[in-house]
Amino acid sequence: MSIQECHLVDLPKITDPRGNLTFVEGGRHVPFEIRRVYYLYDVPGGSERGGHGHKALQQLIIAMSGSFDVVIDDGREKRRVHLNRSYYGLYVCPMIWRELDNFSSGAVCMVLASNLYDEEDYYRDYNDYLRAQGIKV
Ligand code: TYD
Repeated sequence: MSIQECHLVDLPKITDPRGNLTFVEGGRHVPFEIRRVYYLYDVPGGSERGGHGHKALQQLIIAMSGSFDVVIDDGREKRRVHLNRSYYGLYVCPMIWRELDNFSSGAVCMVLASNLYDEEDYYRDYNDYLRAQGIKV
């Protein structure tokens, strides 16, 4: 898979003087049924998260509050995406190495995922990931 398959999703935004509302529907705004939600918060300044790839997992990454960067990498090409709006999500397809950094204070990163947590689905080692992508022998 390549980072060309990752893209920003412009989520519906119902603006309202009482406060805005955004929603995400599985199979509609993301090309998968949502089976898990997790979030990162209380991230100390200078911290890096991620640093792995997934074999089959698909995700939508949203900056619910504050901002951070997601670096997506397919072993051939890399792209840094700055997320700072709760109505934009970054769709990350399977087989993409990702790193998250540049967290603002108070940032909350919510991730909608296509499957339950499974350590077997991770590439934790970049060289293992590159081999699986057919880039390194
Ligand atoms: P990890 O996916 O490496 O975090 P990140 O990508 O944000 O840097 O997960 C960190 C730890 O949390 C690891 O021990 C596995 C555990 N974990 C779960 O138990 N369930 C989950 O849904 C997730 C995402 C992580």
